[in-house]
Amino acid sequence: MPGRFMSFTIAIDGPAAAGKGTISRALAKHFGFAHLDTGLLYRAVASKVLEGQDPHCAAQELTPADIVRDTLRTAEVGAAASKVAVLPEVRAALIAFQRSFALRTGGAVLDGRDIGTVICPDAQAKLYVTAAPQVRAKRRLSELLATGAKTDFETVLSDVLARDERDMNRAQAPLVAASDAVTLDTSQLTIEAAIQAAIDVVEQQRDAI
Ligand code: DC
Repeated sequence: MPGRFMSFTIAIDGPAAAGKGTISRALAKHFGFAHLDTGLLYRAVASKVLEGQDPHCAAQELTPADIVRDTLRTAEVGAAASKVAVLPEVRAALIAFQRSFALRTGGAVLDGRDIGTVICPDAQAKLYVTAAPQVRAKRRLSELLATGAKTDFETVLSDVLARDERDMNRAQAPLVAASDAVTLDTSQLTIEAAIQAAIDVVEQQRDAI
């Protein structure tokens, strides 16, 4: 792939800490595609807003260098990202970059909340990756503790639930599975099994085109 395709887009959506990032990186490696974690765009805007910038200006002026900052993965920036993501003008300013990334020659994997529904409705493969909130909170807690953050399960669970609530119930591009996405629930799966299941889904969707 892409082979007989000019471009090939894999759209991965799902709630926070469901395994989208791990699965997307593994799919990109397996198929030799480029990967864009679109959450980083919202995180980069949020981190500029936390520094005092206007959200719309921050989104319009975003450069690729902004999304490789190493301060973007904190819980504080994640919560702020979910807040700036409700603003229609912020979402609109980030569309063109995501769409051109999706159509690059050689194939692309994009993960986020609205990739299969709004950004790339014509993606050749679509997955909705989810897991039970308690499982997601446990995974996110391990990630945060590994980075040296001081937090606990209850705090992380309530953060996960608050983010679900905001991401799923906003007016613009809410988190929802696209009607043609295959849902992959990773609650009971090892990382290896989840990755293999995702590869199988993409291959089935490709072969059905
Ligand atoms: O995937 P993440 O945790 O890095 O995303 C941070 C926030 O960004 C998320 O809570 C909602 C927002 N987001 C979005 O609205 N649309 C996307 N495509 C990706 C992320």
